[in-house]
Amino acid sequence: MPLPFEHLTSAQQLSKEVVADVFAVADEMEKIWSSGKRSKLLEDKIIALLFYEPSSRTMLSFQAAVQGLSAGMELAHGRQNSSMEKGESIEDTIRMVARYSDLIVMRHPEAGSADKAASVSHVPFINAGDGGNQHPTQSLLDLYTIKKEKGSLDGLHVAFACDPLHSRTIRSLALALSQYNDIRFTFISPDSLRASSDMITELKNNSVSVEESTDLSVGLDTDILYMNRLQEERFEDHKEFEKYRDQYVLTADMLKGKDTLVMDPLPRVDEIATDVDDLPNAVYFDQARNGVLVRMALMAMLLGKA
Ligand code: NCD
Repeated sequence: MPLPFEHLTSAQQLSKEVVADVFAVADEMEKIWSSGKRSKLLEDKIIALLFYEPSSRTMLSFQAAVQGLSAGMELAHGRQNSSMEKGESIEDTIRMVARYSDLIVMRHPEAGSADKAASVSHVPFINAGDGGNQHPTQSLLDLYTIKKEKGSLDGLHVAFACDPLHSRTIRSLALALSQYNDIRFTFISPDSLRASSDMITELKNNSVSVEESTDLSVGLDTDILYMNRLQEERFEDHKEFEKYRDQYVLTADMLKGKDTLVMDPLPRVDEIATDVDDLPNAVYFDQARNGVLVRMALMAMLLGKA
């Protein structure tokens, strides 16, 4: 199934058609993955994974996806081990890596770095997180998880906590979900971490009903409560982070009698108590597994192999 783009840099590219096509291929990947086999789809391809910002799940699930498709892999992990440390520009790095590989995946601390990279890449490029801006492959796996759990992406009330100002996963998922019918969002945060007014305007322009609250309990009666840690590394003033770090902690007690689906892109830091993990509506570890499937699908599609 051909995709209408060569590079994936933002969640706004994930139209309903693209999402449905990726899901169809991810379902096929699920069959292969759960049978314990590997697909040979990309056996003649080399994938470059460039991770210049800390990552566990995204990097490891991309690695698992590369191996699940039998592709070769090049890995650059950590800015201190790369020419970024010597002052090389993003564009030069990508121009070079594109000569060694058939597809590039990059995580980078700078917002906007993905667009810079895509603008010079002559092989398909995937944004695996560019600073506080976007994380579109996380949105794909979040949407895939929601579809599996709820059966539909329409008619949902989703609460997002705790740091809508800095969280690229919240921003990307909210933008991707906003195209579906009858969507309602509640952003929960301290006043100083409210979602940017630009994003709220974009969501409202897509006919989403948007509310804001400082109270985590308003998220308990929604269809989905999407938690994400305070983005410590993106605070200009660390004291501000310390001030809020314990403000929102979801516990099993709060969820008693509630069936809201609890999601989290992880890592979990303070925002969800471990006693939530065993509840049937806590799906964050399954969410992480779904990342392998959608990333396999996306890479195979961008390389014209699925
Ligand atoms: C997220 C990220 O990197 O933005 N992690 C991930 O990719 N699963 C969320 C986070 O770091 O809080």
